[in-house]
Amino acid sequence: MMKKIDHIGVAVRSLDESIPLYRDVMGMQLHAIEDVPDQKVKAAMFEVGDVHIELLEPTSPDSPIAKFLEKNGPGMHHICYEVDDVDVSLEQIGEKGVRLIDQQSRPGAGGKRVGFLHPKSTGSVLVELNSMSD
Ligand code: CO
Repeated sequence: MMKKIDHIGVAVRSLDESIPLYRDVMGMQLHAIEDVPDQKVKAAMFEVGDVHIELLEPTSPDSPIAKFLEKNGPGMHHICYEVDDVDVSLEQIGEKGVRLIDQQSRPGAGGKRVGFLHPKSTGSVLVELNSMSD
């Protein structure tokens, strides 16, 4: 069902302060910076092979990332797996008793459809699924 790791999400307080570490020190290519209004974040995507690192800065105090930073400080936030169809996967996974944050997919970074599983059901690892939107 999971095709590959699409990206790893990292919560940061500031993209401006965090980008130089990834771009200039670790030498990763900055692929895109975009607003994801649905999740109230600004995301910077770096390429590492065919996986991405997604730095997430909150754009509002009620952003899930703002709440994460308040509780945990900056750090690893989620792992995202690519699937064929997020809605199909959410339904199949939900039927197996896993709690879902999203019952249905919503718009995410890179013009893709995304959906999150609840970390209470996944060993405290926040799992995102994404697929190309059709
Ligand atoms: Co993500």
